[in-house]
Amino acid sequence: MAHRLHIDDLRVTLGDGERRFSLRTGTWSVAGGEVVGLSGPSGTGKTLLLEVLGLLRAPDSGGYRAAPAEGGTGPAHDFAGYWRSPRAQALCAAARAGFFGYVPQSGGLLPFLTVAENVAVTQRIAGRPDAAWQAELLHRLGLEEVAHLHPGPLSIGQRQRVAIARALAHRPFCVIADEPTAALDPENAHSALSLLIGAARAGGSATILSSHDAPALARFAMRRMTLAAASDPDSPRHVISTLTEAAPHAPDTAPIPQEAP
Ligand SMILES: Nc1ncnc2c1ncn2[C@@H]1O[C@H](COP(=O)(O)OP(=O)(O)OP(=O)(O)O)[C@@H](O)[C@H]1O
Ligand SMILES: [Mg+2]
Repeated sequence: MAHRLHIDDLRVTLGDGERRFSLRTGTWSVAGGEVVGLSGPSGTGKTLLLEVLGLLRAPDSGGYRAAPAEGGTGPAHDFAGYWRSPRAQALCAAARAGFFGYVPQSGGLLPFLTVAENVAVTQRIAGRPDAAWQAELLHRLGLEEVAHLHPGPLSIGQRQRVAIARALAHRPFCVIADEPTAALDPENAHSALSLLIGAARAGGSATILSSHDAPALARFAMRRMTLAAASDPDSPRHVISTLTEAAPHAPDTAPIPQEAP
């Protein structure tokens, strides 16, 4: 059952009187199967936003919920309310495991499990085993030959592909990917983005991914949002970063640049 995510003016501030950084999301929603590409210069709060959306960090205020898509049935989730509950940690942990697939900006693989076991771990925790989908993800991300290895000897790009497979393995309702292609060459970046976008559309997951890689994102038709930071005119040591919707664009169909041999 597809869900729509509703984000209602989430706000979070880091730091104290000396130096403060505030993130403001505005009010928007993402449908199941929809893909949002998030961009913005370094330090504008992309990771912070994705951590709040992935229930890794509590917002200071605002609303955040998931409701079944129009005409659908199934439970609604008041994620912002979860943080205010005395059982916040348990509620958020259960939602992270069952509802979300998260590709962290760096690594996050379990070093004592093999590649295949790392990919299967989200299925196990969510209680949704699916060996065929696990095998297909390993195949589509070019990981079959390293499936039996532990993450230690893998390249950063291979680890990033394992993290993508792990985030998709339990077919979550929402996929959040923080710079999922940062360590990949143009060809691997293109196939990893195709997989993330294809899985979102086929499986009905709301997908939000951040990327510095404007040319890679520009190859796909997707909704785009941008973070931009500016000093608070009343308090110059306070930086406020605001999220805005960017104009849609036609996908770039130029050939994918090849890596030099
Ligand atoms: N304790 C703190 N006090 C004040 N500001 C902080 C604190 N911790 C983090 N920040 C600021 O929060 C901002 C958000 O950082 P974040 O990692 O989300 O940016 P990003 O857009 O993901 O950057 P990148 O593209 O480099 O990954 C940064 O500008 C950082 O300086
Ligand atoms: Mg970041």
